[in-house]
Amino acid sequence: MLMLAHKLGDWRGGSGPLYARLADALRAAIQRGDLAAGSRLPSERVLVRRLAVSRTTVVQALALLRDLGLVESVRGSGTSVSRRAGPHWAAGVREAPARSALADHVFRTATEAAADAIGFLAATFPADDTSIAADWRSIADELPELLAGNGYSPTGAPALRDAIAAHCARWGVPTTPEQILVTSGAQQAVHLLAAFFVRAGHAVALEEPTYLGAIDAFAAAGARLVSFPVGPAGLDVELVRRGLTRAAPSLLYVMPTSQNPTGSVLSESTRLALAALAEETGVPIVEDHTLSDLAFGPTPPPIAAFTTRGTVLLVGSMSKVFWGGLRVGWVRGPQPLIERLARLKIACDLGGSAPMHALATRLLRRADEFIASRRRRARAGYEHLAAELARRLPAWTWERPHGGLCLWAQLPSGKSTDFAVVAASHGVAVVPGTAHSPSGDDRGRLRLPFVLPHDQLSEGVARLSRAWAEFTRQSVPAERRLGVVV
Ligand SMILES: Cc1ncc(COP(=O)(O)O)c(C=O)c1O
Repeated sequence: MLMLAHKLGDWRGGSGPLYARLADALRAAIQRGDLAAGSRLPSERVLVRRLAVSRTTVVQALALLRDLGLVESVRGSGTSVSRRAGPHWAAGVREAPARSALADHVFRTATEAAADAIGFLAATFPADDTSIAADWRSIADELPELLAGNGYSPTGAPALRDAIAAHCARWGVPTTPEQILVTSGAQQAVHLLAAFFVRAGHAVALEEPTYLGAIDAFAAAGARLVSFPVGPAGLDVELVRRGLTRAAPSLLYVMPTSQNPTGSVLSESTRLALAALAEETGVPIVEDHTLSDLAFGPTPPPIAAFTTRGTVLLVGSMSKVFWGGLRVGWVRGPQPLIERLARLKIACDLGGSAPMHALATRLLRRADEFIASRRRRARAGYEHLAAELARRLPAWTWERPHGGLCLWAQLPSGKSTDFAVVAASHGVAVVPGTAHSPSGDDRGRLRLPFVLPHDQLSEGVARLSRAWAEFTRQSVPAERRLGVVV
């Protein structure tokens, strides 16, 4: 079930008395079917605490909804959404997944950060410092040829599949274009793989911490999430072996290079061992290389390079080196499996956008140039952020990332969710570590991307240090705890 705070969204904005705004948000959630007909609302006491409002506000809001016939209260058993309330279509609709890391993230951005907040949120660069605008204009030359066809290419434009296959080969995995399915970003690749491999209630094995969009994709497929800690040295293969044997997951999802959020890189021997595990256990491995080109040094080839018998699906993306707005990613795998995945993609969207594929093809042919410039920018961003943190927040610690776009900071004490609330009140939006945790554990970690311009990174850290001073001075009063963790 989605958390109540998600269901209500940004209900405090707008005009009119607070109780009317709360009633309005509850009414809208009932009409969307987010609060199902017949479902029990939390008690008044719990609502007061979780929504950080007075008891009068809750009582008046519920009275208003009662008058509208949307909720019913029975003495001794609390308040429920009326059985007649809610849309007809909601009756047969599957509940939203138990948790949504992206919803946490988006929700928090939308509701807690002030308009002028510094956002340590997205780990991706804008592309205004690249030649993409010029490449875009030159696509016009290709338009007559493009427009002469019907525009559909469910597996991806042939020239783009060629270029991606060549890119995978540069990573050390010889690849034919038939082994490539072009997707709408790596996110769709992970989603399709989840839809293909995962049955509701079955386990999926992930790293702890992991990419929050992967948590979403697997949770949406109804997976039970099991996780293995990933430290600076990567994964403990013995632990993974025992976990795979015990949990028999539908798949193992890993990021061998520039892991998001830790920035770790798996050694060649670990990759070899994981490839052997895929062969031994039959568990498919999804290796997400979305951030691979942003490693700070040389890296071993992907796991897929070390096995032909094990099932290893390699996921990639153009979002981090080129631009997220292209929405171009891919899955590389055995051709028959790619054909099966293509059917799922067809059911989803009939294929990607032909002009974007044409643009992506051009860009990918000049990948080296883009990669070199993005690596420089990422490194400089890291060095700047690290220096600012060392200066202003000397008690915070972190392992130097080996790549990627994030610094995975450890608070010396306290919960990251509590600190995120205080940070928001100081005009800085941060993603608490819990959003990256398949188990939802709060170990006082924060993900700090270093993609912002340096002056904003400096200002962001200055605000974080003011927030930290307040956080350590006082324990967080209950009513200011994050709504999203209800
Ligand atoms: C590891 C990882 N996988 C997938 C994605 C999604 O990327 P895309 O924009 O290609 O959908 C991201 C984006 O942050 C990511 O970090």
